[in-house]
Amino acid sequence: MSEVGIEKMGFATTGLYLDMEDLARRRGVDPDKYTIGIGQKEQSVAPSSQDAVSLAAAAAKDALQGESLEGLDMVLLGTESAVDASRAAAVYVKELLGLPDEIRCVEVKQACYGATAALFWALDYVSRRKDRKVLVIGSDVARYGLNTAGEVTQGAGAVAMLISSNPKILSIEGDSVFMTVEAADFWRPPYTNCALVNGRYSMQIYVEFFSKLWKRYRQNTGKSAKDFEAFLFHLPFAKMGFKALKEVLKDEDEETSARLSKRFETSAAYGRRVGNIYSGSLYLALLSLLEGEAMDPGSKIAFFSYGSGAEAELFSATLKEGYFSQLSPSRHLKMIEERRRVDVDEYEHLFSDFPPSSPQDYACDKKYFSGPFRLVGIKNQQRVYEADE
Ligand code: HMG
Repeated sequence: MSEVGIEKMGFATTGLYLDMEDLARRRGVDPDKYTIGIGQKEQSVAPSSQDAVSLAAAAAKDALQGESLEGLDMVLLGTESAVDASRAAAVYVKELLGLPDEIRCVEVKQACYGATAALFWALDYVSRRKDRKVLVIGSDVARYGLNTAGEVTQGAGAVAMLISSNPKILSIEGDSVFMTVEAADFWRPPYTNCALVNGRYSMQIYVEFFSKLWKRYRQNTGKSAKDFEAFLFHLPFAKMGFKALKEVLKDEDEETSARLSKRFETSAAYGRRVGNIYSGSLYLALLSLLEGEAMDPGSKIAFFSYGSGAEAELFSATLKEGYFSQLSPSRHLKMIEERRRVDVDEYEHLFSDFPPSSPQDYACDKKYFSGPFRLVGIKNQQRVYEADE
């Protein structure tokens, strides 16, 4: 197979965050449980004007800066924060970005695995059409509810990736192993905007899926952990990925363990502050690693994508020469640093101000408008978005 992979990446999150120590104190929990036991420092807070569409469009705009749109055939958006049961969120994104009409726009759903499914669809597509490109986006607002065990693992954001046969960042290998088993670990019935979760079970099945796939991957490829410079995980919270990494490290020598542990920390840096962004979370870990630490071209990186319900895939990629010039570490860090800290009262107010699930008009609070795109409100049962001039 010819080389295909990621040519460019973009990221977006909201303009607000909640500090996990503030949340712990209000919930009567030892802050160490959230910051050490779970491993989260902050979480991005989404006002109703920032949803899966506006965040996806912002991440795509970030990825496409300075890029030609020539050859862009598809926008594939992995999300489980759908804003419509029928229309793909990618259609709104296309319009907000002003992309030409000669394009396909589709939404892909399978919990946090959606963007990975989109990625492999895109890779297959560009491997047969050398001059074409696909924009893959993972975008979500993770909501569990006020005062729930999952609350500390909420977050909001999006990662966009331009996929082509000129992969300037990473070429993705055709060595995937994958699996699907129906599991009641985490799900969201249509009548609620918050996820339902069997927390402990979800952690157990995540590690089980990883162990099975890692074993199968080694059998298929003959590779071992020593062949990899880093392991990247879907990170609902930092400790979760570390639990899976421990499955790899238990058979490894000190040097390999130290290398993979250090790289894991770098990969978790953005996620610790942004929180779970569901579909985009694995790719946020990639961005965090590549922007946080210089690595040698040719380095092999392993990826573990997990989506509740449950489906998982393990695959690998190779870092390209000159990859760093395709990234924007200072811009992305600035996005995170410049968010405004909200206190728990303001967070609770924002969390409860969610567009109604009944047919009435709704206006988003203008006070919280931020970012290049936003939901303005709902009029005559239609979502109204706007972009900066
Ligand atoms: P919990 O039950 O409140 O927490 O919820 P816990 O009692 O299990 O404690 C968590 C950790 O903190 C434990 O460490 C404690 O020991 C430690 P561990 O034993 O796991 O290593 N701890 C402390 N550490 C330091 N100082 C202290 C202290 N106290 C306790 N004082 C849970 C935790 C993750 C279950 C909850 O937050 C939750 O339900 N989250 C949402 C579900 C989730 O993220 N699951 C992950 C796997 S599923 C997945 O990744 C898919 C997903 O992204 C969805 C999708 O695919 O769409 C979620």
